[in-house]
Amino acid sequence: MICCSLTSRGREEAAQDMQFVRGRADVIEIRLDYFEEPSSDDISYLLDRKPCALLFTCRSKAEGGRFSGSEKERIALLKECISLGADYVDIEWSSGASEVSSFVKMEKSTKIIVSSHHFEQFPSDLDSVYASLKSSKADIIKIASMADSLSDNLVLFDLLKRAKKESVSMIGIAMGEKGEISRVLNVAYGSYLTYGSLARGKETAPGQIPIEHLKKAYRVSSLKPEGLKVYGLVGNPVSKSRGFLLHNLLFKEEGINAVYLNFLVDDIDAFVSDFRDFFDGLSVTMPFKSSIVSSLDELDPLAQKIGAVNTVVKKKGKLVGYNTDAQGALDALLEKTSLQGKKVVLLGAGGTARAIGYALVGKVSELMIVNRSADKGEELAKELGAVHAFLSSIDWKSVDILINATSVGMSPRIHDMPIDRKYLDRLIVFDVIYNPLVTKLLHEAERMRCKTVSGLSLFVAQAAHQFTLWTGKKADPLFMEDCVLQYMVE
Ligand SMILES: NC(=O)c1ccc[n+]([C@@H]2O[C@H](COP(=O)([O-])OP(=O)(O)OC[C@H]3O[C@@H](n4cnc5c(N)ncnc54)[C@H](OP(=O)(O)O)[C@@H]3O)[C@@H](O)[C@H]2O)c1
Repeated sequence: MICCSLTSRGREEAAQDMQFVRGRADVIEIRLDYFEEPSSDDISYLLDRKPCALLFTCRSKAEGGRFSGSEKERIALLKECISLGADYVDIEWSSGASEVSSFVKMEKSTKIIVSSHHFEQFPSDLDSVYASLKSSKADIIKIASMADSLSDNLVLFDLLKRAKKESVSMIGIAMGEKGEISRVLNVAYGSYLTYGSLARGKETAPGQIPIEHLKKAYRVSSLKPEGLKVYGLVGNPVSKSRGFLLHNLLFKEEGINAVYLNFLVDDIDAFVSDFRDFFDGLSVTMPFKSSIVSSLDELDPLAQKIGAVNTVVKKKGKLVGYNTDAQGALDALLEKTSLQGKKVVLLGAGGTARAIGYALVGKVSELMIVNRSADKGEELAKELGAVHAFLSSIDWKSVDILINATSVGMSPRIHDMPIDRKYLDRLIVFDVIYNPLVTKLLHEAERMRCKTVSGLSLFVAQAAHQFTLWTGKKADPLFMEDCVLQYMVE
């Protein structure tokens, strides 16, 4: 089940928010501590208007909440929720064992959740926290702990599996950006529910994911634990990536029991070693495209030549690295132009430029490499059998295609351009950057009526190749285009 936790400051706002949640979540958490002066009238008002089950919480400041009244008032308010027929009430274990017991023993239809929060760090004695909560005999026990590392999620998943075996209803959450994967997968591993936010910026706890994403993209309630395939993006940072939308919607469309997550990784070797049994495939982004190579068992020959991997596939237990940026860039270009007989200027000599260079060499009549660090540009040109050049020495009248494979113009420096607009006249201009979707370079090229190829088309094309490598299926280009227009173009 998905529970939407609301940040509403009063009952009218909460009633409005509840209407938005209708059909998008199964339970709504009312945080009474967010209300200015919560009263029993507020509780009745909301229960009268509920679109689904209501869970009432009133967190003290000591537990990360905002309630400024006395402990006596807080307890009285929560007991009033029970008397008025709330579906769920959350009482913190820190309120004391006898207080929790007084809730559990009340004559009621309300389910009691006894909760334990760890905002500072992930507890080393999670089992003893579990044992204490279990001893409360509450209907549901809840443990929410800040994830210090991605591996804390694995510890939590093991505990959820144990609770399921012992028939204990448990909610388990790892908080923070490193705990995001638990918010997607906990239900599959047995958590009674997962919490989500109404929208980005409306989180009541760190790392909450909008309910819309939990339901539509991640499909948290319909992921089946048996045979579930886990894919994801490894990088740092990963929070801006929208690839999870595309891949999850593709899995949904194809009816594949698989999920795509964002893994915020600090140490790629440690990640591959700890999570090797957990994932079935990976997308790889900055800064790990080269450094992941040493953790893999095999490399596809093209990835080997390029020296960078953007896709990992698990084949009979072996991790095999591929590079789909090369073919993706070719696909994106070929949608707009033929390559035969064309002269191309490629800006950059980093990972993406290398992939594009390998994709183009032999297919165009001349490839010129220009890079800020001339030595790196020269080295790549030599390796590819291409020409190393400087912007000022190029005969621009003979050039057909310009490709920007540098990070110049990428957010937040969206007003930067890798090359003066005077060079753009008549060219086909391809910018690999997709954040922003229309870079300054593409904007200027469009103003000069040049044909343009966007970084988004590269992104979609390389993702389609990843999908095929992982599933053996061809991604429907029309469906992908639709996803992009609906969810990725803001
Ligand atoms: N659309 C997609 O699906 C897709 C896929 C992959 C990558 N990308 C984008 O491609 C871009 C490059 O990624 P990458 O992995 O190739 O990065 P990288 O390996 O770090 O290479 C960066 C390149 O940009 C050049 N550069 C950086 N700052 C510069 C500046 N101020 N002036 C001139 N040149 C500069 C670097 O030149 P030096 O050698 O002199 O440092 C280098 O050639 C990123 O923006 C990334 O988001 C998009």
